[in-house]
Amino acid sequence: MGKSLLFLYPRTRIMANIGAKKKKARKIVGLTYDIKPDYILKDSDPEDANAEFDHPDTIEVIKDAIESGGHKVVKIGNVRNLLRRIKKLDVDIVFNIAEGLSGRNRESEVPVILEMEGIPFVGADGLSLGLTLDKVMAKKVLMSEGVPTPSFFQVSDAGKVDGTGADFPLIVKPRQEGSSKGISDKSIVKNRKDLIRQAEWVIRTYKQPALVESFITGSEFTVPVIGNGKDAEALPVVQISINGKTNLGDLCYTFSRIHSNTLCYVCPSRITRALEKKLKDVALKAYNAVECRDFGRVDIRVDKRGNPYVLEINPLPSLSTEDVFMVVARYMKISYNSIINRIIDCALERYGML
Ligand SMILES: Nc1ncnc2c1ncn2[C@@H]1O[C@H](COP(=O)(O)OP(=O)(O)OP(=O)(O)O)[C@@H](O)[C@H]1O
Ligand SMILES: [Mg+2]
Repeated sequence: MGKSLLFLYPRTRIMANIGAKKKKARKIVGLTYDIKPDYILKDSDPEDANAEFDHPDTIEVIKDAIESGGHKVVKIGNVRNLLRRIKKLDVDIVFNIAEGLSGRNRESEVPVILEMEGIPFVGADGLSLGLTLDKVMAKKVLMSEGVPTPSFFQVSDAGKVDGTGADFPLIVKPRQEGSSKGISDKSIVKNRKDLIRQAEWVIRTYKQPALVESFITGSEFTVPVIGNGKDAEALPVVQISINGKTNLGDLCYTFSRIHSNTLCYVCPSRITRALEKKLKDVALKAYNAVECRDFGRVDIRVDKRGNPYVLEINPLPSLSTEDVFMVVARYMKISYNSIINRIIDCALERYGML
């Protein structure tokens, strides 16, 4: 992804923890993941079907990072490999970044198996992962916890869309996808005809209901979080810039823009301290509302009046070196390896294994 802007960042708890001289817990860390070459696209698949899966290089970078913390890494791979090896698996903990294979519970597949076998793992459990991949379910929880999120409705049958009284513009997305799958400039609809067309396309292409949300015109941010419960810490807020603009208006983060150089992460964000604080507070509230663990990322859109709306929570955000955690590490002047090891330490601490 595009370039980031780098500035000095004041010392935070994360940095203090990284700097702390502790006797290191050396562990055998299993690594579960899904890589693009393991998934052969079928003719019936949409072009972005394997978008969530990692590039093999990312797995090597994470492996090296874990080893730099003094641990030994056992590469496991996807859920099928895990099932094959589970009875003979000799690991202390698993670092799970597997996206899973099918359905709205796919991200929960690996965590549930590990939980069943009593193997500790880094990151959210199956319940939080299933809940957040399904954006409709996640929004219901956010709303009940008083976390602002765009108003929405769901379309399961495009033929039955009424649309009268709808407050356009709206955005039409697949209900249970990530990595901007199914999101293009056509997703923003301004009338009933386009709403029906786009909902019909989402339902047919992704074989799931369409989530229709109020479109928030304004700016966009993503907030990486590390830690647990009241000790969870929001890292510096990252702003999304498209075509050199941070005032995005009607522009949005689409699948095709990810693969172009029009999209850029800006850190530090060009915002007031008051807005930065508001965004961090709302991110932590969302993170804890769905009981994320160890690490996560909260995507937020801010309207013209400065009101934040949580679009989604990613308990399994990309750890690719082109993504947000790397951008923030550079800005905080800490290494990618220390971020990865801080995440592992959060999990070890949670299990009383540190
Ligand atoms: N209600 C909304 N108002 C404005 N823009 C939106 C809205 N919902 C989604 N978007 C735009 O579409 C992008 C992708 O949406 P969203 O984060 O819900 O999908 P995703 O596929 O889970 O994303 P990710 O790529 O972060 O995994 C957002 O980053 C944002 O630019
Ligand atoms: Mg998102």
